[in-house]
Amino acid sequence: MQATAIAQPNIALIKYWGKRDVSRNLPAVGSISITLRDLFTRMQVRFDDGIDSDLLTVNGSPDEKMLPRLSACLDSVAGQGRSWARIESTCNFPIAAGLASSASSFAALTVAAAAAMNSPADTLRLARLAGRASGSAARSLYGGFVELSNADDDIDLRQLCAPDAWPLRVVVAITATGPKPVGSTEAMKISRETSPFYSKWVSEQEHDLAIARQAIAARDFEMLAAIAEQNCLKMHSVMWASRPPMVYWNAATMRCLQTVRQLQGEGVGVFFTIDAGPQVKAVCQPEAEAKAETALRATEGVRDVMISGLGEGARREPCG
Ligand code: DP6
Repeated sequence: MQATAIAQPNIALIKYWGKRDVSRNLPAVGSISITLRDLFTRMQVRFDDGIDSDLLTVNGSPDEKMLPRLSACLDSVAGQGRSWARIESTCNFPIAAGLASSASSFAALTVAAAAAMNSPADTLRLARLAGRASGSAARSLYGGFVELSNADDDIDLRQLCAPDAWPLRVVVAITATGPKPVGSTEAMKISRETSPFYSKWVSEQEHDLAIARQAIAARDFEMLAAIAEQNCLKMHSVMWASRPPMVYWNAATMRCLQTVRQLQGEGVGVFFTIDAGPQVKAVCQPEAEAKAETALRATEGVRDVMISGLGEGARREPCG
């Protein structure tokens, strides 16, 4: 009744923002992401009849905050009548700072829980359950370039391109650590209810997805860069125009965008994307990584830089 799984966060190039069904956590729009390789969350789940509630540690310390969502996710995988569980989570990057730590956490949790239950691991089923817990988590069940689309009554997922078939690199510029002011779930609700740009955001998404799909199929970096940057800025425009406005950026976030623009002007193959947090993710062609890293490290206000290639979807670890 014990298993360990590992999952990587993913970064959306065409973003999920907004829900069409809040109670089932179904997204309003499809999305396309890349799964990373070098940042990870490892989850061990041990069902234990000797305890009288679920217990969670994150990087070795007890954690109450995340526990209710993890417990609900365990219920969805193992059933309401399950035993209580000891959950041990370890993560090698800042939690809740716009780096999709919830995505890798829920993806790893569903795989570990299903393995601990000895129940057959159908990736789509686990992705759908992870997506109930956090929309972006569904994509971390798959590797490389991943598309999440809306099916009639659920979501569908498919890999568009394997990680080594187009081995892009990601340089993450950390401009602040610590939790974000408004969580994504709440921010999406505020956007839907108050942003004058929200309906346009939803209606244009199919167009952006189609262009990104075409760019990925053709391995056309320039085309992907243009649509990913525009989609990211549209999402932030929706938030900026909400009431209250939600601005996740800080001064260093903006400076990083200028750094990326400057690199592009020098012909370096790089583009930016930003999620619900202040970090800037610079997606690069392999030969551009060193230049992007050096330039972002030298950008005022950047505290740290993390680098990753593209990797596989969530999977069980043999030792668990
Ligand atoms: C900006 O998956 O965190 O990163 O479903 O409410 O848990 P919930 O939201 P979450 O939202 C991620 C939003 C985003 C864009 C993206 O990853 O597509």
